[in-house]
Amino acid sequence: MSARAIVLAAGKGTRMKSARPKVLHELCGRPMLWYVLEAVRKAGVGEIVVVANEELDPYLAGFAAPGAVPMRTVVQEPQLGTGHAVQVALEALPASQGALLIAYGDMPLVPAATYRRVLNAVDANVALALTTARMPLPSNFGRIVMRGPKLERIIEARDCTPEELEIDEMNAGIYSYDEASLRGVIGRLSNDNVQGEFYLTDTVELLIGSGKRVIPLLEPDYRVVLGINDRIELAAAAAQMNLRLCEAHMNEGVTIVDPATTYLEPELTLAADVVIEPNTRIGGRSKVGPRSVIGPNSRITASTIGTDVRICESIVTESVVGDYSSVGPFAHFRAGTELGTGVHIGNFVEIKNATLAADVKAGHLTYLGDTAVGRAANIGAGTITCNFDGTNKNRTEIGEGAFIGSNSSLVAPVQIGDGALIGAGSVVTHNVPDGERVAGNPAKPLPKKAPA
Ligand code: UD1
Ligand code: MG
Repeated sequence: MSARAIVLAAGKGTRMKSARPKVLHELCGRPMLWYVLEAVRKAGVGEIVVVANEELDPYLAGFAAPGAVPMRTVVQEPQLGTGHAVQVALEALPASQGALLIAYGDMPLVPAATYRRVLNAVDANVALALTTARMPLPSNFGRIVMRGPKLERIIEARDCTPEELEIDEMNAGIYSYDEASLRGVIGRLSNDNVQGEFYLTDTVELLIGSGKRVIPLLEPDYRVVLGINDRIELAAAAAQMNLRLCEAHMNEGVTIVDPATTYLEPELTLAADVVIEPNTRIGGRSKVGPRSVIGPNSRITASTIGTDVRICESIVTESVVGDYSSVGPFAHFRAGTELGTGVHIGNFVEIKNATLAADVKAGHLTYLGDTAVGRAANIGAGTITCNFDGTNKNRTEIGEGAFIGSNSSLVAPVQIGDGALIGAGSVVTHNVPDGERVAGNPAKPLPKKAPA
């Protein structure tokens, strides 16, 4: 049977000074708890119990369990300390054999490998493996007290003597217990300490006292075990996570001109030879195809960008951009924009819920909403689809190869036929048949061209 995990997330997080539960604060587009659950799952855990408080609990119902790992929530109310949180979780969890991982929900930077390391260290002879890290002082972390080469106990910073505060090996807050051994001591915790809390860390002394083996495992990079307690630490963790995401993509062949001003989220698919120019944000499970150049100053959210696309100084949300298209500067694609191959969209063009077939051009100052545009149509500067009549949103259809003259208003619902021509400055209130030429306000058919 695969290991189980308890993730503690019931603390009040008062130092965030927020109405929102601490573990739901986001870095790089995901709540901090999301990263913890993801890393725990990747470490090979088969079932996760999250200990929540009453405020957090309702949010967790909609919190997608990562992968296929079953997740459930136990409410700890009131919060009497980390040891109490584990007592509450164990009461709700049928007893089982084997390793039980315990993680804190406010440590989003911990990689799966660190969890895996403690999990793998627990066997018939080891009742508890825990992660430690050497850190610069001063620090609020619990101190690892050794007696010679052997771990003796963990003392919380607030319970330390001045000498003990000089210890620079810290308790990271990552534990793997032999579950039966943990159940044997969890009821014996006391709250006789400065904070008046039941400390999970006191299980160390209790296990050692009952003849069990507890082993510390040193994590070489202390930065990955830093928790988040306030907004300053949140920003620092976000910068570290962002750099990690950038480096992962750079290692796969993406050029990131300036990682310090590139903001990525997890779950992106960026092909080799994508180039990201500075001051650009890409998020929400977006995909970008080979050799596309994104940025500078762009924001791509939940979108699919094809091959050899150029997006410059533009905003693209929930949209699809076909291969060889060019976008911007200063274009804005709202949800439901779909560009075919080789489309050109220039500056100050807003598009929403619209499909533009291959080779369409809209170079300047245009609004296309609730619209379908046929292949190779040319949309002149200042063209507006008047899609809203005050009550309803109406559709505009523009045929293949149509030519819309500059500064035209297409009053929807309206259809412009294939190859039709709309003269500059027209207000089109009626459908225009294929090949027809109209102009004026309201637009009227133009005389047929005299045969040459
Ligand atoms: C804890 C450790 C400390 C370690 C540090 C690492 C204890 C007693 N101390 O201290 O040794 O160096 O983490 O970051 O464990 N929580 C609950 N219920 C509670 C109290 C806390 O679920 O009643 C949760 C919190 O939401 C948090 C985690 O447990 O996710 C840790 O609690 P926190 O109060 O942040 O402990 P620290 O003081 O940081
Ligand atoms: Mg903490």
